[in-house]
Amino acid sequence: MSVTGRTTKIAPSVLSADFTRIADEIRSVEGAGADWIHLDVMDGHFVPNLTWGPKIVADLRRIATLPFDCHLMIEEPERYAGAFREAGADTITVHWEACRHAHRMVQQIKELGAKAGISLNPATPVALLEDLVDDLDLILIMSVNPGFGGQRFIPRALEKVREARALVERSGRSVEIEVDGGIGVENAAAVVAAGASVLVMGSSIFGTGDPAGAVRRIRRALEDSH
Ligand code: DX5
Ligand code: ZN
Repeated sequence: MSVTGRTTKIAPSVLSADFTRIADEIRSVEGAGADWIHLDVMDGHFVPNLTWGPKIVADLRRIATLPFDCHLMIEEPERYAGAFREAGADTITVHWEACRHAHRMVQQIKELGAKAGISLNPATPVALLEDLVDDLDLILIMSVNPGFGGQRFIPRALEKVREARALVERSGRSVEIEVDGGIGVENAAAVVAAGASVLVMGSSIFGTGDPAGAVRRIRRALEDSH
């Protein structure tokens, strides 16, 4: 537990993992106390990169024990949410910018029995969630432009996390505030202090050659910052 009264969740993003050894990679972060497994789905349209579809998620579900946090960086997410839920997604997060009917999309995810998240690109203001916050389980603030791991944290994201925290406090609901991109041991505590409850980290965990050690170091950095 932190001074904020929240326990920060660590969500390693397997985008930066070695897929020839993916079972070992996942088990090592699970053994080190990670909380969620973050799965980045990219379609080559919404973002200029491609990753995987529901088959890979379903296969990973057989070897992982932690909840699956599915981040859909795709156009027309309403066409695929069901397939990812069936594959084992516990949380399904779609992008505000990819939804013509964000409210309907959120209801669809909840009807599938998953937790519903909306993600905001760096140029999309938090205020747009004012009329949606009562329906959300999670707000994902992108602190890089989506599409690739290993990018630099955009400082303005900290202010957006504060705005998201204020929005959630006003709603009186318990909504996770997740932050994704450019987070590592050096800035994790600052992101949490701004109001984040879930930290997504790819390269700073799987890019280190010692994912378990990286998870432990980040946890320690968060504890030391109290
Ligand atoms: C980027 C993805 C992230 C990515 C983050 O579009 O959404 O989840 O894995 O990678 P790092 O932590 O390396 O910035
Ligand atoms: Zn992501």
